Amino acid sequence: MACINMKFSPAFLLFYLSACAWIQPASADNRVSIDTPPASLEKWYKPANKRQVWLHTMFRLRREMQAISEYAEQNDQPGMEKWIARLEKDYNKIVDMVPEWEKMTKPRLLSELEMFAEKGDTYRVGKTLKMIQRTCDDCHIDYQPLVTAMYRSPHYDDIKLKDLDGNPQSFEDNMVDLSRSVNRILIALDDGHKGIALQTSQNLADQLHNLGNSCNSCHEDDAYPRERILGKVTQKHLQTLQQNINEGLVKDSQKLMGEIAVSVCARCHNTHRIVYDLRNALLPDE
Ligand code: HEC
Ligand code: HEC
Ligand code: HEC
Repeated sequence: MACINMKFSPAFLLFYLSACAWIQPASADNRVSIDTPPASLEKWYKPANKRQVWLHTMFRLRREMQAISEYAEQNDQPGMEKWIARLEKDYNKIVDMVPEWEKMTKPRLLSELEMFAEKGDTYRVGKTLKMIQRTCDDCHIDYQPLVTAMYRSPHYDDIKLKDLDGNPQSFEDNMVDLSRSVNRILIALDDGHKGIALQTSQNLADQLHNLGNSCNSCHEDDAYPRERILGKVTQKHLQTLQQNINEGLVKDSQKLMGEIAVSVCARCHNTHRIVYDLRNALLPDE
């Protein structure tokens, strides 16, 4: 499991996001409004809480809704009643946890659901489930994206790496150095500066090694993510690159640089940087 670092001040965030952030995709008809969630939600997430309590309540709600609807289709009354009792408990937790969201739920629908299930009126059970689902959807449309961004997206600001001289370096500065190395190699190859290309390809390998030491700040006890992007295959590529440069194989070296850019940089960016950028777009001023 990934550990996700979170560091920000919700009060500060609220200040900046007091109104509404608008995300406007290609068509204006598809506009989604993103409202700031009440501050009390923070208590139900790490690190304020030991577990992601809110999220796990949500997963249970979805399972309970599914169970009720499947048992209703099968006319299985005990099945329905068992899961309705659970749904009621978890549905009420929403407002127990975040009282500010009282108006977003309709507890009376749960009493009705219970009543229809007792009567074996599966048609009305189905109808009521749909009405409950509306209350889920309404809240999700307003709040889900921002809550996910605020409480569940990875943070790179606290991660400390080492630069080539062994001095502490931020994640972002490591990225800037990586980018410089990649481009310096490409420029040197273009201009026939073999010595610079060779030295810089060694630097790139070292910088990536330093970066690799940071993976376990999130991927605790899991060696696979590092192996996947910076493992044997990448090390082999970096070695071959140096051989190619040494032997004056410019075209092969350029081709290999392209492969490294895709299999190392782009592959990692596709999972990590996209989420990071989205989060920053949603939460502009931390
Ligand atoms: C952990 C996987 C990972 C790998 C591997 C990786 N990056 Fe990044 N990169 C990120 C993340 C996350 C960000 C955004 C966070 C940040 O900028 O602090 C980022 C940001 C960047 C940035 C923007 C920096 C800025 O000024 O904001 C550049 C440039 C960059 N990466 C280049 C590279 C290059 C070139 C490589 C390959 C040689 C590479 N990265 C490999 C994760 C990775
Ligand atoms: C008052 C607001 C609110 C209501 C009502 C609500 N939710 Fe949620 N729900 C959220 C928020 C906020 C998130 C985002 C949590 C996150 O990403 O950590 C969420 C996330 C979820 C997720 C996780 C989606 C995913 O895969 O990441 C599920 C499943 C879910 N809700 C189910 C339900 C169901 C089913 C109901 C109705 C019975 C419901 N929720 C009612 C606020 C609400
Ligand atoms: C700030 C936290 C953070 C850091 C640092 C980080 N990751 Fe990740 N990474 C995540 C999250 C979150 C996911 C998505 C959930 C998951 O798969 O654990 C992820 C997913 C991945 C995945 C896809 C899932 C898989 O296991 O195949 C790979 C590969 C990966 N990371 C590689 C790396 C590498 C390599 C590094 C170090 C260079 C790194 N990560 C550093 C947070 C991080």
